[in-house]
Amino acid sequence: MFTPENLVEAIKLFNDKIQENKNYLSELDTPIGDGDHGNNMARGLSAVMEATIEGSLFDEFKTIAMTLISKVGGASGPLYGTAMLEMAKASKETDDAETILRAGIAGIEKRGKATLGEKTMLDLWIPAVEAIKEGNLTSERLTTLTDETKDLVATKGRASYVGERSKGHIDPGAMSSNYFFQSLLEAGVLTHE
Ligand SMILES: Nc1ncnc2c1ncn2[C@@H]1O[C@H](COP(=O)(O)OP(=O)(O)O)[C@@H](O)[C@H]1O
Ligand SMILES: [Mg+2]
Repeated sequence: MFTPENLVEAIKLFNDKIQENKNYLSELDTPIGDGDHGNNMARGLSAVMEATIEGSLFDEFKTIAMTLISKVGGASGPLYGTAMLEMAKASKETDDAETILRAGIAGIEKRGKATLGEKTMLDLWIPAVEAIKEGNLTSERLTTLTDETKDLVATKGRASYVGERSKGHIDPGAMSSNYFFQSLLEAGVLTHE
């Protein structure tokens, strides 16, 4: 379950991973995009770290959402931002991680009009949340899911411009989403009581 404390911890861990892997994320975005995913995410998470993340789960998610939406130029800012905004709304009703993350998926789907299998961050989010439901999300599973995006052909976002040639490359947004779910694991959000 989410608590205001473990959300702050998770977002700090997410920021650490994004800053550490900023160049790698931009490298992944080079053959199938415009090479800015690492910079976009790093700029957004730095701004989140400068903001005051406090109050209820709703307040925290909302501050994170608004910061990402306003500070990230690329497609990923509004996508992660909308996910966090929907998670804010869901957190008014429940602290259950699976339910809140499902609201995040709905936000990404609504904003990006993509579905499973289009080589986007949803190819990480959807099966990761399925695994949470089954109580078996691990970092190994996250790695497998991220690697599996290599086989997909992009039909949404900038990577769709290279079409078939997007095959063979990990989707950068799936990789950054891997770091997000890994951070939730490490912060204890997904631990069953
Ligand atoms: N329509 C969409 N729905 C879901 N995710 C998307 C969509 N378009 C792009 N993405 C995600 O955003 C990532 C690219 O983010 P980024 O490079 O920061 O933005 P941009 O594509 O504007 O340069 C992709 O790897 C993909 O995971
Ligand atoms: Mg890009």
